[in-house]
Amino acid sequence: MYEYATRKRGYLMDLRGRDFLKLLDFSTEEIEYLIDVAADLKAKKRKGEAHEYLKGKNVALIFEKDSTRTRCAFEVGAYDLGMNVTYLGPTGSQMGKKETIADTARVLASMYDGIEYRGFGQDVVEELAKYSKVPVWNGLTNEFHPTQMLADMLTIKEEFGHLKGLNFVYLGDARNNVGNSLMVASAKLGLNFTCCAPKELFPEESLVETCKKIASENGSSITLTEDVMEGTKNANVLYTDVWVSMGEAMDLWKPRIDLLKAYQVNKEVMDNASSDAIFLHCLPSFHNTGTTIGKEIYEKYGLKEMEVTDEVFESDKSRVFEEAENRLHTIKAVMLETLK
Ligand code: CP
Ligand code: NVA
Repeated sequence: MYEYATRKRGYLMDLRGRDFLKLLDFSTEEIEYLIDVAADLKAKKRKGEAHEYLKGKNVALIFEKDSTRTRCAFEVGAYDLGMNVTYLGPTGSQMGKKETIADTARVLASMYDGIEYRGFGQDVVEELAKYSKVPVWNGLTNEFHPTQMLADMLTIKEEFGHLKGLNFVYLGDARNNVGNSLMVASAKLGLNFTCCAPKELFPEESLVETCKKIASENGSSITLTEDVMEGTKNANVLYTDVWVSMGEAMDLWKPRIDLLKAYQVNKEVMDNASSDAIFLHCLPSFHNTGTTIGKEIYEKYGLKEMEVTDEVFESDKSRVFEEAENRLHTIKAVMLETLK
C-alpha cells in the first residue's frame, strides 16, 4: 500500500494517536509524508483495490458550519477504510448548548476512535483535543483549514512534480482560515508565498513572523503586497477564496466588495502570471449568479462574479475540481495514519 510514501523515503512515519489541528503542529517531513500517503490511496482507489485498513472503527463528525467537500470526504474516506460514521450537525446534539466541549470530548472519545470538528474558534477544536483520548481532526475553524492544505498541495505536486521553489500567490481575504493556512503550508513546504491583498486584510503580524521564520528554514519567502500585477508576476499558482467567510455577517459584503474587487482573479491577472500557472480555489466559489447569495449580491451591487471570473474558473488553467477530489484522498490519509 505504501508504495509511493516508502519508495521516496525508505520508511514509514508514525503519526498514530496524533491530533490534526493545524499544520504548525507538524514538521515538513510529516506533512510531505501525508501528501505521499494520499497519493498512494488515490492510486489504490483508481485501481479499484479495496483498502479497508480500519475495519470496525467508528468516527464522529461534528459540523457546526455547512460543508459539502469536507463532510463528504470524511464520510466516503471513512467508508473506504471500512469505518462507520456518525454525523452531528449544527443542531441535534448537546454540544456547547447544554454540555461543555470538555464533557462532549470525553463522551465521544469513549465511543469513537476519532473525532472531526468543523466550527468556529480554533480554541474549540484545541479544547476538544485536550479532553479527547482519541485523535481530533480540524475540518475548518475561523483561523485554520489544515485538511484543505493537503489537498491543495497534492494538486500542485501532481501538476508540477514538486513543491519546493514554486511561486504561490493568494489573492483576497488573506486573514481568513484558508489564507492563514496557505501561508503556513507554503512556509512548511518551501513554496514562495505572496499574499496579494489590501493592507486591512493582511494576515496577523505574529503569524506572518512565525511563517517567515519557517520559510527561511526551508529556503523560501513570504511577501505581502497590495499590488496585484507586481504580486502575481511569475506566479505558478494563483489561489483565491470567498470574500466573506462562513460565520461572518452578511453586511460585510459591501465593504469587502469595495476592498477586494481589485483583487479578483480574472484573465488579465491570470495572463500576468507564469505561462504554466494554474488556478486553485478551495470552493465553494462565487463565479456566477447561479447561487442564492450570488444572485442577491448581483441584485444589490451589480456584481456577476466575485473573487474569480467565470472565464478563469472554467478555463483550462483551472484545477479546482481535481483539487476538490483530492480532499477525499488527503483526508483519508489523515484518518489512516492517525488511527492505524
Ligand atoms: N473547501 C471546503 O472545505 O468545502 P466545504 O465547505 O464544502 O467542506
Ligand atoms: N474561508 C471559507 C472557506 C470555505 C471552505 C469559509 O470559511 O467560509
